[in-house]
Amino acid sequence: MLRFALTLLAVITSSTCKKHGCLEGDTQKTKPSPEPNIQECTLYSKSSCCYADFTEQLAHSPVIKVGNSYWNRCGQLTKSCEDFTKKIECFYRCSPHAARWIHPNDTAAIQAVPLCQSFCDDWYEACKDDSICVRNWLTDWERDESGENHCKDKCIPYSEMYANGTDMCQSMWGESFKVSESSCLCLQMNKKDSIAIKYLLSKSSEESSSSSSSSSSEERACQNKVLKFEKQKQEEGEQTR
Ligand SMILES: *[C@@H]1O[C@H](CO)[C@@H](O)[C@H](O)[C@H]1NC(C)=O
Ligand SMILES: *[C@@H]1O[C@H](CO)[C@@H](O)[C@H](O)[C@H]1NC(C)=O
Repeated sequence: MLRFALTLLAVITSSTCKKHGCLEGDTQKTKPSPEPNIQECTLYSKSSCCYADFTEQLAHSPVIKVGNSYWNRCGQLTKSCEDFTKKIECFYRCSPHAARWIHPNDTAAIQAVPLCQSFCDDWYEACKDDSICVRNWLTDWERDESGENHCKDKCIPYSEMYANGTDMCQSMWGESFKVSESSCLCLQMNKKDSIAIKYLLSKSSEESSSSSSSSSSEERACQNKVLKFEKQKQEEGEQTR
């Protein structure tokens, strides 16, 4: 009986995964596949919604232009700020899980992807002295005939455009991201995401039935997994020394 239940669960889980292929943006594949030779966005090399070719635009610093959009309209980004911007671009273009948060009215867009507070705060810290002329990167540019982006307003420091990391994460890409109340069931665009994703995906399939007590036990389970993951990494580091 238990085996039957587990099989059923596996079938349900794999069918919900299959439902989410890739976002329908202009560069995404229809479904994720491995990209062993990817140069950037390597977090997604095992299962990627972008082609390795796409990431070549991100491979040389400073990044000037990605697709139609110039990244240097207010001067080149500092390396640390650029690195965070890349992580967001990689997630949107390449993550095989991005479609889990597909926007109900726009299959090329995402909505309310939970980011970790610490990730947003670090991102803000990295970019606060860089300059930007749009509050919402998706809607506030002036686009010319060829679709290229131009500033409508003057360039000001990120620290003037956004009050803090939360404000930045929840404004810069429209509704795409929200800051999570959890410090574990959230994404930070690194290897730990694979742990968070497991819980976030299981949560979505039982959304209606999940009570606050089950979410706090998930929170604890997630924290334990992350601790284990970190301990393991530390031990690996010691062995190679
Ligand atoms: C989707 O479109 C409908 C109808 O225009 C609107 O009522 C709804 O608020 C939109 N949903 C989101 C998340 O934007
Ligand atoms: C961040 O800024 C927003 C908008 O100004 C504000 O409401 C919020 O309290 C700030 N959060 C922190 C942690 O300072």
